[in-house]
Amino acid sequence: MDAAEALASLMSPQGRVDPYPAYERLRAFGPVVQTGPGLYAVTGYAEADELLRDSRLRMLDGELRDQILPQWRDSPALSSIARSMLRTNPPDHSRMRRLVAGAFTPRRITAMREVVATQAGELIATMAADGRGGSPVDFMAEFAYPLPVGVICALLGVPAADRPLFRRWAADLTGALEPEITPAELAVADAGATELRDYFTELVAARRRIPGDDLTSALVQAHDAEERLSAEELLANLVILLVAGFETTTNLLGNGLAVLLAHPRAADGLRRHPEQAPAYVDELLRYDSPVQLTTRTSGEAVRIGGVELPTGSWLLLLLGAANRDPRRYPEPDRFDPWRALPSPLSFGAGPHYCLGAGLARLEAQVALPMLLRRLPELAPAGAPRRRIRLTLRGYDNLPVTVGEP
Ligand code: HEM
Repeated sequence: MDAAEALASLMSPQGRVDPYPAYERLRAFGPVVQTGPGLYAVTGYAEADELLRDSRLRMLDGELRDQILPQWRDSPALSSIARSMLRTNPPDHSRMRRLVAGAFTPRRITAMREVVATQAGELIATMAADGRGGSPVDFMAEFAYPLPVGVICALLGVPAADRPLFRRWAADLTGALEPEITPAELAVADAGATELRDYFTELVAARRRIPGDDLTSALVQAHDAEERLSAEELLANLVILLVAGFETTTNLLGNGLAVLLAHPRAADGLRRHPEQAPAYVDELLRYDSPVQLTTRTSGEAVRIGGVELPTGSWLLLLLGAANRDPRRYPEPDRFDPWRALPSPLSFGAGPHYCLGAGLARLEAQVALPMLLRRLPELAPAGAPRRRIRLTLRGYDNLPVTVGEP
């Protein structure tokens, strides 16, 4: 098998369900390997980390973006994502990131702990009621999807009654984060993006009239102070906060619970020692990363891992593979919450390092021990179904029985 075939095995339906064997096939060619004309795959931890921090690498923009994604300007979903900080380069990226990060304060995140605990407690109570008598419940539908949406809505100051709308829009838009999208998926994403942008336009107007203590109000102030954040950028970044923060966190909760249920001794350790949640959550992030890859182009020639990447190369940075690099993590395929070297690449690295990492960690650190403690008999009930995606790795459904709380 050559490197192109190893990459094809990752792209295959089977590779999307379980990418880890394909990562090892790619790794056999070295930490950085050419897999096609101008196309490179990175599986090494040190190399991916270095490349993510290297200012010669860029988010796809300019002419290359017009070639690869010619429809982006006319698509409300793709253009919102493209204009947000997630997909822009300096100086726009640095300016937007500074402004949004200034509103995303540690105080605001710490204040979310109560919100997370209250919402998680309510969802657990509903799960327990629905699963009474031994009927299986779907953890994804009952917990892993609603919790992150509820938390982001609280953060942005969206009323609780509108959460179901946000959940639908976020789900519709998530496909637009993948490196490839079908016309049918794009139509769904565009319809969702249009409704979401209309909603945010009204929310922004309301918060301009009467500011609240929420992130939307803080971003409106950043916009109004000398237009440091344009109206279009304000909307694009509100959209990206929802899209980047939703299914990613859902996947951390779903993948995380599935791993814990498959490792009862480790789960028992977390149940008895919830204060160890930070180490558990970092190892869950490493072991089955909710975001498996990101992409960059090289603005200049770069030499890395013994390979010369010419200007204009297209790079697949396989975060899920880097997290299983045996040079960084001994016995990488073993789930071990007591590892000495956590810091996986699941939140990226460098200038685009996840802005919501603290919030996502907080949600999992609160929710997972709470689930194990309040539902001590929680157990898998039948085979879960994986989502067939390349970037975001998670479950469509994860049936569980809750036992008698
Ligand atoms: C960026 C992962 C949760 C907001 C990123 C990136 C990754 C990531 C890998 C970098 C992408 C790149 O370099 O191409 C995750 C994971 C999460 C999570 C695994 C959950 C477990 C969240 C949450 C929010 C959020 C809860 C906000 C509410 C963002 C934003 C960026 C970002 C705004 C763009 C930052 C920039 O470009 O400067 N995330 N994320 N994420 N994430 Fe997260």
